[in-house]
Amino acid sequence: MSKKIRLGVLISGRGSNLQSIIDASKNGMIDAEIAIVISDKKDAYGLVRAKDNNITTLIINPKEYKSREDFDKKVVEELNKCNVDLLLLAGFMRIVTSALIEPFRNRIMNIHPALLPSFPGLDAQKQALEHGVRFSGCTVHFVEEGMDEGPIIIQAVIPVTDNDTIDSLSERILKYEHKIYLIAVQLFTEGRLKVEGRRVKVNKDGMKHTVYKDITGDTVLINV
Ligand code: GRF
Repeated sequence: MSKKIRLGVLISGRGSNLQSIIDASKNGMIDAEIAIVISDKKDAYGLVRAKDNNITTLIINPKEYKSREDFDKKVVEELNKCNVDLLLLAGFMRIVTSALIEPFRNRIMNIHPALLPSFPGLDAQKQALEHGVRFSGCTVHFVEEGMDEGPIIIQAVIPVTDNDTIDSLSERILKYEHKIYLIAVQLFTEGRLKVEGRRVKVNKDGMKHTVYKDITGDTVLINV
């Protein structure tokens, strides 16, 4: 039985990925608990989700900081106060700097609604449709300096159909975002992730935890 790790979650909006992490931490799908949710937007709906679940929340207003680095230092200070082991970016709409990445090197993950390194940045689903790709999907990766960059942990592949709109594709991808983020967190919790340069090696020995059932049962769509 692995110990419960402490998560920090950074959000800016709706917080559906946050909700999936909240649910999974409550029902034992992941061996992790959320120590704090931080938002850079005071009206982020994710804050309501966190409060409804008695999770500590904090709003940090970027306007009160002279630079991105100063903002990021404040975030680190608050995460450290809460003894955060793993930091999750979940719809956090800011570029993060080394001031945040360095103290959490290989302990910050991001989720992105495309098969990175294709279509980083905003409107990934729109970019995918405009390029006429036959498959898109989502990616969880460790965060490094650079937009949506860093070693890839897990991806889910989603077919794109002729009739897809941005909304329909986004909705289909989102369903898998909610699954793969949990798997990535649980892999981290069990110490199975080893970063080697650009790559993440996943130790798959004796994977029994229920959160992994999608990897083994559905290997075409989700791959670590
Ligand atoms: C998700 O599509 C995520 O991949 C991207 O921003 C969106 C956030 O959605 N980084 P939510 O706030 O988790 O619902």
